[in-house]
Amino acid sequence: MTFEERKTQVRSYLGKTVRIAVDRPVGYVHHKEKYDLIYPINYGCIPGVLGGDGEELDVYLLGVDKPCEEYAARVIGIIHRANDVEDKLVAAPEGMRFTRGEIAEAVNFQERYYISAVETEDGFGGEKVLFIDACARRDSRTRRLANALLDSLFRDAERVRLYDILPRCLDGETVEKRSALNEKGDRSDAMFGLAKQFADAEEIMIAAPYWDLSFPAVLKCYIENVCVNGMTFRYAENGVPQGLCRAKRAWYVATAGGYAGENLFGYGYIKTLFRDMFGIPETRLIIAEGLDIAGNDAEKILLEAIEKHTARG
Ligand SMILES: Cc1cc2nc3c(=O)[nH]c(=O)nc-3n(C[C@H](O)[C@H](O)[C@H](O)COP(=O)(O)O)c2cc1C
Repeated sequence: MTFEERKTQVRSYLGKTVRIAVDRPVGYVHHKEKYDLIYPINYGCIPGVLGGDGEELDVYLLGVDKPCEEYAARVIGIIHRANDVEDKLVAAPEGMRFTRGEIAEAVNFQERYYISAVETEDGFGGEKVLFIDACARRDSRTRRLANALLDSLFRDAERVRLYDILPRCLDGETVEKRSALNEKGDRSDAMFGLAKQFADAEEIMIAAPYWDLSFPAVLKCYIENVCVNGMTFRYAENGVPQGLCRAKRAWYVATAGGYAGENLFGYGYIKTLFRDMFGIPETRLIIAEGLDIAGNDAEKILLEAIEKHTARG
C-alpha cells in the first residue's frame, strides 16, 4: 500500500459507523519486550479490512468504559503515525463527542511510543502548527528533515524563518520599553507579536542545526522575544514560573556535522525552557548526526533519518 493509498483509506472511514472486533479490551495487558502496555480503553480492528501494515485496520474505541468483545461505533478520528507503516482509527458510540486533545490523551498510553498526530472530522481541528526555522543555509539539511516530518504529520504550518525576520536581541532600551508596556497591560506593540504567536500555537517544531555544541544565536534572540511575563508564562505567588502556552508537545529537529553524544545542550536547554517556563510538557528530539565526517555519505544519513522518522520514506 502506498503512502497516499494508506491516507485515502483511513480518511474514507471518517464519519462512518463500523463494527469493531475488540481483541484488547479495557484492562488488557500486552507484555512487550521492555514494558507492559495496559489498555485503559477497548482496542480492536475492523475484521476483513487490511491497513497499512497488511494486518486488520486497528481502531481505538473511546467512551465505552467496560470491556467488550464487539461494538458498532462511529469513526471520529485518525491517528496518523509518522514513523510507522500504519495509521489507526478512533471510534466512539454514536452521538458521543471528543476533542482532539481528549483523543490524544486517551490514546497516549500507546501513541507516546510513536510520532503521531490526531485528525478529526474538522481536519486537524484547526490545529495551529508553528514551524520555527533557525536554519541559516539555503540548502539546509536540518530544514529538509523538519519539512519531511511536518509533511508527514500535518497539513499545514505557520512558518517563521528566523533569518528572514532576524529577531533583535534584547538591548537595555528594549527591555525597559517592554517592561513598561507589559506592566500597563498594553501588548499592542509589534514587539509582542512573536510571543503572541508562540503562546497560541498548538504544536511547535523547531529546526536548528547543531552549531558550536548548541544552536544558532538567532534562535536565542527569538526566545528572548518570546519569553514575556504574562504572555508565554507568569510567575506564581511563590515565584515559580507557570506556563501559559497552549502547546502540549514540541519537536526539536537538528542535524550535526559530528556526533553530539551527551553534548546536546541546545536541545536540553529548549526542552527544559519549554517545560519549566512555558508549560509544554514534552519536547521530542529528532537528530541526524555525523553528516560532515570524512567518509560518511551525508545524503544517505539524511535520507535514512527521514525514512526512520516519517512514514513516507
Ligand atoms: C557555525 C557552525 C558551527 C558548527 N558547529 C558544530 C559543532 O559544534 N559540532 C558539530 O558536530 N558540527 C558543527 N557544525 C556542523 C553542522 O552541525 C552540520 O553541518 C549541520 O548538518 C548543518 O546543518 P544544515 O545543513 O541545516 O546547515 C557547525 C557548522 C557551522 C556552520
